[in-house]
Order: sequence, then structure tokens, then C-alpha cells
Amino acid sequence: DKPLSINDITTMKRKGEKISCLTAYDASFAAVIDKVGIDILLVGDSLGMVVQGYGTTIPVTIEQMVYHTQCVSRVRKRAYIIADMPFMTYSNLDDAARNAAQLLQAGGAHMVKLEGARVDCVRFLVEQGIPVCGHLGLLPQSIHQLGAYSVQGKEPEAAQKLRDDAQKLQELGAGMLVLECVPAALAKQISAELTIPVIGIGAGIGCDGQVLVLYDMLNIGVNKRPRFSKNFMTGFKCVEEAITAYHLAVKSAEFPGLEHSF
Ligand code: KIV
Ligand code: NA
Repeated sequence: DKPLSINDITTMKRKGEKISCLTAYDASFAAVIDKVGIDILLVGDSLGMVVQGYGTTIPVTIEQMVYHTQCVSRVRKRAYIIADMPFMTYSNLDDAARNAAQLLQAGGAHMVKLEGARVDCVRFLVEQGIPVCGHLGLLPQSIHQLGAYSVQGKEPEAAQKLRDDAQKLQELGAGMLVLECVPAALAKQISAELTIPVIGIGAGIGCDGQVLVLYDMLNIGVNKRPRFSKNFMTGFKCVEEAITAYHLAVKSAEFPGLEHSF
């Protein structure tokens, strides 16, 4: 199959075809995920937790993100590759541009993802021709401000702010949006309000696509599997079958169920 572009992903949203996404941090898993037909490979800074064993994503560096993005991009044939900008690598515009460029140039990513309604930063990167994915709701890089990995946007004001921030990111030229741990009804509404694809994690079935942390859905995470995730190894003997089951469950809108949603 030919490599997917941002246009192909956006067309899936327009046609109502669910978009499948999984995290990947190395060549072997990336190759299996790509072969199965998953649409997007996310080199997430969750690697700080599931690969490096830290308790948060905060220690992850840009050098490590470039390294893991290279491992993934070397073997990828079809999937669109998004790489996370780690904590404090986009705290000013110059740093943001330099670090995003590294993920694209050295890493081989097609788009970078950053957490929060970072208006100036998103505008600047888009002006430089760098594709940007927003990330709203639960922001793991702000865990010490948030206090807990909990559902976001439950109060009416917080829900309205999420809708406004999502709209703003789209206006500024973000090409995609990840919504993490928000009520399913709110995520559905935001997905309907935006023309860019909205990929949910713990955000219910109403999003345009779904993403999970690979090691959680393979049930081999060092941390307890979050409620919104699912053990896709159940009933299967090999990783490729489990990933295929996830891909099909996303495409057929069987995952996430109510038990994985808020
Ligand atoms: O780092 C990551 O894996 C992510 C997803 C959870 C969206 O940002
Ligand atoms: Na992340």
C-alpha cells in the first residue's frame, strides 16, 4: 500500500471511516503495526514510562525522541508518523522550531504533537511548514500541576474551555488533535465541531479515531493498565493477532466500549 498522507487521514474523517493509531517506539513493533494496517504510528513520550521505567513522561529528552522516531521511521512503509515534543522542548518559539525540525529531519516524523493550548507555538510551527497535532484534556507533562491522571473537562466551564481550545488549534492550522481522558459526550461534540481528525484515548467512541499505548493493550505495561485501555492479547497467542484485533475493533467502532469511556 502507498504511504498515507495527512490528506488520506483527513479524508477518512470526512467519510466517517474510523482512524486507527497505536504508539510505537522501536523497529520490530513498528513493522508489525504498520503491516497490520494501523493508520498512524505515534512515537509517544509515554516511552518514558513504558520503555524507560520512569513514573512520568517528564524526564524524556528530545535526543531520545529523535532516536526512537528514527527506529520507527526506518521500517515504516504505510502509516503516518507522529512524534511527541517532550516536556520543555517547546517553551519558547526558537526551541520549538529547532526541536520540531529535529523530529522531522533527523527522526523522519511527518507531524509533531505538543500538549496544551500553546497558541503562539502552534501558529509559529505551522508558519514554518511543520505539521502539528494538538493534545488536549489530560496533559501528562503537567501531571505535577494536575495532581492525578484523572478525567478532564467534567465541569461546564472546563468543557467550554476545551471546545474553545480545540477550535483555536484548528484555526491556527493544527492538522490533528488528540483528546485524552475527557467525557465521551464532550469528545463526540468536539469531533463533530472540528474538520480536522480527532483521535481519542479515554475519550469514547465518538472520536474520529482511537489511540492506545502499545504496551498497555498488550498487557505488558510496568504500570497498572488504565481503565480506558483494553487487554487485546486475550484470546490470542501472538502480538500480530492482538494488534490486528485492535485495528479491526477500532475500524468497526467496537472499541472503545462504555466500560472504557467516561
Ligand atoms: O505519549 C503518548 O503515548 C501519547 C498518547 C497517550 C496520546 O501522547
Ligand atoms: Na505523549
